[in-house]
Amino acid sequence: MDSYVKNFIIASVVYLGLSSLIGIMMMASPTHLTFKFVHSHLMLLGWVTMMIYGVGYHVLPRFAGRVIKSRKAAEAQFWLANIGLIGMVICYSIPMSSTQEGILRMLGAVFGVMEAVSIMLFVYNMLATLVPKPEHPA
Ligand code: HEM
Repeated sequence: MDSYVKNFIIASVVYLGLSSLIGIMMMASPTHLTFKFVHSHLMLLGWVTMMIYGVGYHVLPRFAGRVIKSRKAAEAQFWLANIGLIGMVICYSIPMSSTQEGILRMLGAVFGVMEAVSIMLFVYNMLATLVPKPEHPA
């Protein structure tokens, strides 16, 4: 198994565990509903999406009888996806005074862009792996 596949799967299950605890906190007390953004994004961009990245990188090229177009892009994607997600949820969770709001929102947007770039890297890598016609058809 490639290291980025393993890393995505490990990160995914860690986010599942962490975000489930936040879900339980929210169930226990409505004051914790302020963490709804954190919970939903750790679940969807963490657990669900990273599991799909990991399993997708492993099985989709094999289904098509190909090798992944760029391992370097997949490795970079792992770091961008994780730094972007963690940065987004931290920026969103820090209580803001009106003077801090602009800075935190800008910083949050930078992490959001990192997350979006990581998504685009996956889109590129999958399409560049799966779409081109084989040079020597079997
Ligand atoms: C231990 C498991 C889980 C618990 C205890 C839990 C609990 C909660 C709670 C209490 C809320 C807030 C509901 C409200 O607005 O009053 C919520 C929202 C949400 N949860 Fe979970 N959840 C769990 C698992 C999941 C999973 C597996 C996913 C997705 C893969 C997920 C996705 C979401 C989303 C997207 C929202 C936001 C919904 C909205 O904004 O209306 N949750 N969850």
